[in-house]
Amino acid sequence: MLNLDLTEEQRLLEQSVRAWAAREVAPRIRELDRAHTFDRGLFPQMAQLGLLGVSVPEQYGGAGMDYICLGLASEELEYVDTSLRVIMSVHVGLNCLTLLAWGSDDQKQRYLVPQAQGSKVATFGLTEPSAGSDARGIQTVAVKKGDRYLLTGEKMWISLADVADNYLVFAWTDLDKKKQRDPSGMSAFIVERAFKGFSSATLKEKWGILAGNTGSFKMEEVEVPQENLVGREGEGFKIAMFALDQGRYTVAAGATGLIRACRDASVKYAKERKTFGEEIGSYQLVKEMIAQMESDYQASRLLWLRSGWLKNTGRRNTRETGLAKWYATVASERAASDAVQIHGANGYSDEYPVGRFFRNCKGAVIYEGTREIHKLMQADYLLGYRTDRPPRCELPAWEK
Ligand code: CAA
Repeated sequence: MLNLDLTEEQRLLEQSVRAWAAREVAPRIRELDRAHTFDRGLFPQMAQLGLLGVSVPEQYGGAGMDYICLGLASEELEYVDTSLRVIMSVHVGLNCLTLLAWGSDDQKQRYLVPQAQGSKVATFGLTEPSAGSDARGIQTVAVKKGDRYLLTGEKMWISLADVADNYLVFAWTDLDKKKQRDPSGMSAFIVERAFKGFSSATLKEKWGILAGNTGSFKMEEVEVPQENLVGREGEGFKIAMFALDQGRYTVAAGATGLIRACRDASVKYAKERKTFGEEIGSYQLVKEMIAQMESDYQASRLLWLRSGWLKNTGRRNTRETGLAKWYATVASERAASDAVQIHGANGYSDEYPVGRFFRNCKGAVIYEGTREIHKLMQADYLLGYRTDRPPRCELPAWEK
């Protein structure tokens, strides 16, 4: 039976995240954004709400909630600011949930537990200066030396690069396969900031998500113990793609929250602002934009809910998650642009939040698979050029 009602636990989580973000972040987000300031004080507060391990089982330090809760949290956080949701994407989605599925028990104890409890912050390192969409194009290498690997390379456009403690990093372990671009030569490693030869930096020139931290990190022969190899040697590419199934889910739900924020701001403004003696909401061209926001919001929400439901049942969801991410991010760009339009000149100023929504929404149309990558993937599924098989590891499920 199809049931779209939220459970009591899901509703409570949604309400508590909404109330926290409205109380603690919304009143000062404009100043944080203007000052390009990432507030580290958010981590302990988010940890207290259970958000940093929201869908990690309690036995690994998490809140033990399902994937729908992860989506709800992402939607509520991005309703206030994209920088908050980005924390969920990299720390929970790309890192913690990947360790949950692919990590050894020792790795779960040493890394997942403190991350899910919020005492350590984690992120993900796939993208490089010359390899974004083309994930096979990375140049980072890991050379085996006794019981360690020496990692050398640079990662770029990494959210939380300059603030995280732990990094899930992808590197070539088979240099012949690197030459042939055969992804079965790639492996995944857990790297700590504290390892010798590791350095990070913040990227200063970006123009969106200004209250977030984005940067790069470098590894110069960083010694990584072999216990930090995640999965088997050669499974790195699959692990990266699996991680993106989780990250893209949070991006889809987050973009849905941004559409809702644009809709609500537009409805409010359309009832306050008068032109030619009438509220601008009475004009059909304004109504048209508001109605489009509502349809985009509802469709985006249904798409991420379906993806979350598949995750709860432990089924591969690459295709559905990709569609949810593609649809919601593209729709969020339209919603933000129209929200600025409805606000007129005021939308072009920082006095109203819609200008920030407009700057923030664009990143998600690019990261974690561009609009074009996702469009091509959907076409390839239909044309039979692409099929999804269950991965080697069991997908963590909440209902069997
Ligand atoms: N789960 C498990 N296995 C998967 C998988 C998944 N989701 N997706 C693919 N695989 C497996 C495939 O089954 C295949 O294995 P077999 O040969 O055994 O069947 C293998 O991985 C190779 O898969 P593909 O043939 O699909 O690989 P591809 O090269 O065709 O992929 C692509 C092309 C889809 C465009 C991929 O390169 C891609 O997604 N690119 C975008 C990368 C991206 O989103 N980057 C953002 C990273 S975020 C970041 O680093 C920044 C940050 O802030 C942290």
